Formats: sequence, structure tokens, C-alpha cells
Amino acid sequence: MTTMPLILVTGGAGYIGSHTVTVLQQAGFETIIVDDLSNSTVDVLDGIARITGVRPHFEQVDCCNEPALADVFDRYPAIAAVIHFAASKSVGESVGQPLKYYYNNLQSLIHVLDEMMHRGIAHFVFSSSCTIYGQPDKLPVAEDEPVKPAMSPYGNTKQIGEEIIRDVAASGSALQSILLRYFNPIGAHPSAEIGELPVGVPQNLVPFITQTAAGVRKELNVFGNDYNTPDGSCIRDYINVVDLARAHVKAVNYLLEGKNTQPVEAFNIGTGRGLSVLELIRLFQQATGVVLPYKIVGRRAGDIEQVWANPQKANNVLGWQATETIEDTLRSAWNWELKIRN
Ligand code: NAD
Ligand code: WQD
Repeated sequence: MTTMPLILVTGGAGYIGSHTVTVLQQAGFETIIVDDLSNSTVDVLDGIARITGVRPHFEQVDCCNEPALADVFDRYPAIAAVIHFAASKSVGESVGQPLKYYYNNLQSLIHVLDEMMHRGIAHFVFSSSCTIYGQPDKLPVAEDEPVKPAMSPYGNTKQIGEEIIRDVAASGSALQSILLRYFNPIGAHPSAEIGELPVGVPQNLVPFITQTAAGVRKELNVFGNDYNTPDGSCIRDYINVVDLARAHVKAVNYLLEGKNTQPVEAFNIGTGRGLSVLELIRLFQQATGVVLPYKIVGRRAGDIEQVWANPQKANNVLGWQATETIEDTLRSAWNWELKIRN
């Protein structure tokens, strides 16, 4: 009997991590989640087990706690690759609490890389973000467009994180990394067994839409209709979270098969299609049949006017592409909202 590679997934109890563990397990990989549950709950393990039939290994550990992290690596000597999701992710909170973000996001990354280097584990996938492009000069934005000055401490941790990985790779270490630059992840698993669990008032558009549709929020505020876009509202590239999860499986396989030509390669993970806020509202109403109360308000500070991906590199090199429709994706978000409200 052949055993499938063991993948350590930090932050694997979170929104994107839980979907990634699910598709990794469906692809036959064995997984260990390392998560401190600072922004997730242990119930997600049951959801993953219901979908895949297998409960992932789970270690409730803060990646900033180096002895505890080292102990996990000691107890699982067969780790073949690490996917590093663990991070704090609220852009607004990072402006008020920058040190929390620099500490958690960078310390966790440094410790994970350090443990990997000590043990000769070479394969690493990092959660980066389209936020590093700021407002790109060229659209759709490709990976070789310049990184713009970060708009928030959170965004800066992604830029610095990428630099740390490049420096470790350039130091003569064995590290082989993929940086996945996610655009705007939305939706939930079609089973509605796992999805996004925003804490407090959602800052992101789709969770706010679904909570408003469910009557938890009175109305959606559309932040600005005076941008230089066809309908005046901002444009983003909304990527289905299961499609995004599949990109991680492609990235892990690409590294494990030794297909990478450089020690660090970055890939945009988006659909290649830009949608405005007003278009997304219309699509949500069409896809679900639910009327969404909304009003136009002023711009939100720090918002980028428009950004969407050129995903051709991921399409051609990783053999990955987004396949889920926006209608199915919005329905999955709505079904998840209904599930957690009942
Ligand atoms: P999430 O908050 O749902 O998941 C992150 C998980 O990491 C949570 O379960 C949390 O408990 C855990 N965690 C945080 N700090 C930790 C630590 N020190 N040790 C162990 N566990 C820790 O967030 P998500 O949306 O799934 O994002 C996953 C990754 O993708 C993050 O790195 C995030 O910055 C990045 N990302 C997210 C988006 C997005 O819009 N959701 C976009 C681009 C990039
Ligand atoms: C999308 C659009 C808002 C809420 C953020 C981070 C980014 C990345 C993804 C991690 C914008 C509008 C929103 C609302 C609205 N995360 N909006 N009313 O800002 O593109 O990106 O998440 O790396 O770094 O900044 O996503 O979902 O907050 O907003 O009109 O109540 O929806 O103005 O145009 P954003 P978002």
C-alpha cells in the first residue's frame, strides 16, 4: 500500500484553510491542521469529516509559540509540505493594532520556515494577496506588475512575508515556495458543511450581503458610486473558495513533482473577470431570489478603485483555473448563511 504525502496546514481551521484541507483529503493527501483557534472553531473538523469521511489530525497550537510548533514537527516526521494560512486578516483592525499584525503574521511565518529548514522540509505554499498590487497601472494585473506601497499594516505583512520567503530561498537553503496571491475569496463549500464565520460585523462584502439578506443587518452600504468605473462602484475579482482551495492542491503537487523552475514562484489566483459591487448585488438577487436592501454611501477609506487578475500563469503553469460560476458561488454563500442561522 502506498501512503500519500502528509501536508501540514497552518490556519487550517479557518475559512480558506478548511476548504483546502477538504480538497487535499479528497485528493488523497493526509493532513495535519495547526491552528490556535483565534479566529475559528474546532467544529470545522466535524464539517471536514462529514464531507471527506476523514477527520484531519489537529493540533491547537499558536505558530508564534516556537517550542509548541517544534513539538508538532517532531511528532509528525513525515511532513512533505507546509501550506501556511495562519495569520490575522482584518485590514481595519491592522490599522489600529499594527504590532498585533506584524507580530502574529511575521513571527508565525518565521517560526514555520525555521522549523522546516531545521528538518529539511523544502516545499512551502504561502497565502499572499492581491492587496500587494495596490491600484495597478495595468489591468488585468499580472504577477510581474510592481508591488505598490502597502495601504495597511496587514497588507505590509503580506509584502514583507513574500520578501522573507525570497530571502530564505536566496540564502542557499533548500526552500521551494509558491506564493499564491488570492483575489477576493467568496462562497462556501456546496455541501454547506463549512464556510466563512465572520466575527462581529462583517467587513467584507459577501458576508455583509448574506447577513443583510438573512435580516441580521438592516441594509448594505455600498461604499461609493462615483469611481471611474462603468457604474461608479468598485470592481473586484471574486474567486470561489473551493476553486481557490484547488489551487493549493495544484501548487503542492507542482512542488512535490519538482516542476518549479525557480525556488520562489508567485501566481495570481483569480477568475480574470472583474465585477462591480452593484453587479454583484444584482447577481446575488438573481441567483437566490432574495431581495437585498442597500443604499449608496460615501467611499470607504483605503479602497482600491478596481482590480482583477490576469490568471494566465496559474492556468498555464499550474494547470489551474476557476471553474465555478458566480451564480453557484453566491448561492453557496447564501446556503451557508441559512445553515448557520438555523
Ligand atoms: P481565517 O481567519 O478564517 O483563517 C486563519 C486561521 O489561522 C484561523 O483559523 C486562525 O484561528 C488561525 N491563526 C491565526 N493566527 C494563528 C497563529 N499564530 N497560530 C495558529 N493559527 C493561527 O482567514 P482566511 O480568510 O482563511 O485567510 C487565510 C489566509 O489567507 C491568511 O493568511 C490571509 O491573510 C490570507 N488571505 C485571505 C484573504 C481573504 O479575503 N479571506 C485574501 C487574501 C489572503
Ligand atoms: C469588496 C468591495 C468595498 C463591504 C479585502 C482586503 C484585501 C483582501 C480581500 C486579504 C469594495 C465594497 C464592502 C460593504 C461595500 N484580504 N463593500 N460595502 O476591500 O477588496 O479586500 O479583502 O488579503 O486585502 O482589503 O474586499 O470584501 O471588503 O470589499 O460596498 O459593506 O465591496 O468598497 O469595493 P476588499 P471587501
